[in-house]
Amino acid sequence: MRELELLKREVENCTRCNLYKTRTNVVFGDGNPEAKLMLVGEAPGYYEDKKGLPFVGSAGKLLDTLLEEIGLSRDKVYIANVLKCRPPNNRDPNIREIETCSPYLFAQISYISPKVIITLGNHSTRLLAETELGITKVHGRIFKKGDKVVIPTFHPAACLYHPEWLKLLREDLSKIHSLLSEYGL
Ligand code: URA
Repeated sequence: MRELELLKREVENCTRCNLYKTRTNVVFGDGNPEAKLMLVGEAPGYYEDKKGLPFVGSAGKLLDTLLEEIGLSRDKVYIANVLKCRPPNNRDPNIREIETCSPYLFAQISYISPKVIITLGNHSTRLLAETELGITKVHGRIFKKGDKVVIPTFHPAACLYHPEWLKLLREDLSKIHSLLSEYGL
């Protein structure tokens, strides 16, 4: 899709915040630009920064397995992050970085036009579900946003250390799977 390609080129040259100084690669996003389901994480980590692709480290492997369990794969969905560049030492994104970078995510969403957006973890949930509530409170809830629904769930990286959250993440995804069939997706 031409608009998405042009946006990607723009983001690859972005110097709007200081993260460009320490990045190896911009991690724009990946997957099917026609996807009806989009997943949004937080920010690239070490391996994502090296490869320029989202969710390619251990959290990404877990995400692939979980998607496979509900009959999905990366070529059927689109995956992006709130931030397109890695914060040094994987620190949390700060408010200024989120404000500066999020217009890129909003543009991606408007070009891809997914019906369902799964937010992974607190940062993307706060931004897209527009709630201040933490993920343990809002995971699995449906937030209607215009013609889309946003469904927050746990970040797979957090689930690597919290098996009890992994169980909840699986439950949320299976609910989302049923919802997708209801939407004919
Ligand atoms: N964590 C994220 O939030 N995004 C990635 O791309 C990788 C790890």
